[in-house]
Amino acid sequence: MIIGGKRLVGDVFISGAKNAAVAVIPATILVEGTCRIENIPSIDDVTVIVDLLKYLGAKVKFTDKHTLEINCEKLKGFSPPHDMVRKLRASYYLIGALLGRFNHAEVPPPGGCNFGTRPIDMHIKGFEALGAKVNIDKGIVEAHATKLNSAQIFLDLVSVGATINIMLAAVRAEGTTIIENAAKEPHVVDVANFLNAMGANVKGAGTDIIKIKGVEKMTGGTYTIIPDQIEAGTFMIAAAATAGDIVVRNVIPKHLESISAKLVEMNAVVEEYDDSIRVTRNLPLQKANIKTLPYPGFPTDLQPQIVALLSVAQGTSIITENVWDNRFQYIDELRRFGAKINVDGKVAVIEGVESLSGAPVKATDLRAGASMVIAALMAKGMTEIHELRHIDRGYENLEQKLRALGAQIVRRESEETDIVGEVI
Ligand code: EPZ
Repeated sequence: MIIGGKRLVGDVFISGAKNAAVAVIPATILVEGTCRIENIPSIDDVTVIVDLLKYLGAKVKFTDKHTLEINCEKLKGFSPPHDMVRKLRASYYLIGALLGRFNHAEVPPPGGCNFGTRPIDMHIKGFEALGAKVNIDKGIVEAHATKLNSAQIFLDLVSVGATINIMLAAVRAEGTTIIENAAKEPHVVDVANFLNAMGANVKGAGTDIIKIKGVEKMTGGTYTIIPDQIEAGTFMIAAAATAGDIVVRNVIPKHLESISAKLVEMNAVVEEYDDSIRVTRNLPLQKANIKTLPYPGFPTDLQPQIVALLSVAQGTSIITENVWDNRFQYIDELRRFGAKINVDGKVAVIEGVESLSGAPVKATDLRAGASMVIAALMAKGMTEIHELRHIDRGYENLEQKLRALGAQIVRRESEETDIVGEVI
């Protein structure tokens, strides 16, 4: 439950990046030795991917809440079970990692948030270019190679998952693989840095062209995950939403430039420091037009949160969702607060209203859940957000962090079943 209208003031520490952690953890399959990974976010998606590795026979130990030691030397399986794989999208990284280590993987297609079709055709195209035969039969993606070779692969679309998965499969293949039109997201760079820290030879991550020179063996080491760009952006938006004053700490300001630029356009004040960003706002929120794009463009994973903010900005804003076909399902929930938003295909037109009113709503997926939280923080009166399990997949201690900033927010376990989930 959230009672809206409180200014959020204070410091918040950002956790490790979810989308880096859920790739780095399966990437340890490629390593014969112990990988120590620091700054792991304490979120449900990490629990699921760790359980998947344990199932395959990895030795996994949390030395503290945010530090993992993983040893995959004695992995004994190639085939994780359906029910576990379906819990998250990132389980597709098991295909690239198992293929890269053993030339063989049998993995059911991944699950994850539902926003339209989420194909993995470009991942498969990449594996095939590296010399693997890939079949999808009885709901299992089976990839097999006698030996993986290098290849030059041009991605038709910029895809985070395909870029990382091809890197994983190629890192121990013979020769130099080149990925063109690669994704440049901070977590793509983080995975490349992790692989290099473990003994790989990956160059160019963060640009359009990544070159992966295959190595025979990777032997382990220590690596620290980068801060979560999307969690940081969510708190920056919360500061602007509540006319607050938040110092968002443990961030890489460069990763947040597209968000800072939009918040400034909307009348917030953004000050950048070495590893923190301060967001304040005194003036009324102004409309803005936003197009989501691959990095360094405005991230699709902050689209639902910024739409909540724009719902009370002066004027009419236009949001174009260029990454996913169907990422506006949550807008029905925002309308329950009184937001005036029309959706036509990939475009949402938001007519700013004076204020929102608290309502019972549900988190339809992870970032949609964050959008409900932003709306609730601004709304007059009380909001109940249901189906919090989506938020727990990707935000560490969201309600504790918000409460420490002054939000009136309470989570209580629901007396009802899992279908409703808990209620904040
Ligand atoms: C990653 O998903 C993130 N997930 C998503 O974050 C994020 O929204 C997305 O990248 C875009 O930034 C993880 O990292 C685990 P894509 P991913 O491949 O890799 C199309 C969150 O909220 N495509 O970059 O699956 C696809 O349909 C989550 O944290 C193909 O057509 O996304 C989409 O339109 C949600 N064929 C576009 O490319 C393919 O083989 C970009 O998808 C692969 C993708």
